[in-house]
Amino acid sequence: MTLSRDDLGRLERLRALFLADRRAGEPLPDYWRDDGDLCSYDAVLGARIGWKWDAALAECRDRGFARADGDVVLDYGCGTGVAARRFVAAFGAREVLCHDRSRRAMAYASDRVRRSAPSVPARALPDVGSVAPDVLLVSHVLGELDAAGLRDLERCIARSRRVVVVEPGSQTVARALSALRDRLRTGFHVVAPCPHQDDCPALATGTDWCHFFAPPPSAVFTEGSWVRTNRALGIDARSLPYAFLCLVSGPAPAAPARAPRILGRPVLRPHSVRVQVCEPGRLRDVERPKRDDPTLWRTLKKAPESVRDLP
Ligand SMILES: C[S@@+](CC[C@H](N)C(=O)[O-])C[C@H]1O[C@@H](n2cnc3c(N)ncnc32)[C@H](O)[C@@H]1O
Repeated sequence: MTLSRDDLGRLERLRALFLADRRAGEPLPDYWRDDGDLCSYDAVLGARIGWKWDAALAECRDRGFARADGDVVLDYGCGTGVAARRFVAAFGAREVLCHDRSRRAMAYASDRVRRSAPSVPARALPDVGSVAPDVLLVSHVLGELDAAGLRDLERCIARSRRVVVVEPGSQTVARALSALRDRLRTGFHVVAPCPHQDDCPALATGTDWCHFFAPPPSAVFTEGSWVRTNRALGIDARSLPYAFLCLVSGPAPAAPARAPRILGRPVLRPHSVRVQVCEPGRLRDVERPKRDDPTLWRTLKKAPESVRDLP
């Protein structure tokens, strides 16, 4: 990846727009000015979102989410189509539909999907209308929708058989995703990340939020172009916070109770580790002495993202 001054300028502009605290909750106008914006975004911000998708999709797969080779997959608010590309690489698809309010984005995303998976047809879908996809993907869109946009998205979700949403791990957006989850629970069951089907306990207080961290690839620390780009943009390469939700329509199949799901980052001390876990009805802070489970302590120190459940 080699970025020009022009790329950096475009990325600085986009990042400034995306930072929610500078927007005060107002929906953004269409910000894709030309293909250059989409290209620059895809190389850096899209790549980071792709790593979050990889982490979320690995968890979906481990929770039993089945392949999608015969499915129509709709990427809603597709931007450059990174969600669709990651999904197709992991689960396959019969056809990909790219929807965005920006025609430029839909054309760009369809082309990128076709190039990354030549055997899967991909096309723009300017009007979602009454389309009922087998799989609906939503990536980093919730924070940009006004009330009407959210209503349209929820209607589309209601018509979908399976849904995967990946959003930034910020408190505001993650809590909005939890609220969406609770509204959808009548028609769908939650495959991941929740270890239960009850109300989201992160919403019981005004301050908690359900979020995780994806592991960045080593290239972001070792490749000069990544190091320079992250420095120039003020991006913390180690941190890839995300929130996600995987739903399948219909009631939850009978299954054994699941272990508590670890949220956020563990707090490591020399002789213990503290984690926040989600379990039916509550979030709980757990302090685990190192001597009780030295392997767990070491793994949480070296690769915290690799431990999803608290044994
Ligand atoms: C931050 S970008 C994320 C793009 C892509 N999904 C990704 O994860 O990289 C948000 C996208 O949502 C689109 N968008 C915003 N509001 C929308 C709406 N009401 N309907 C459809 N797309 C919308 C924007 O045009 C933009 O492409």
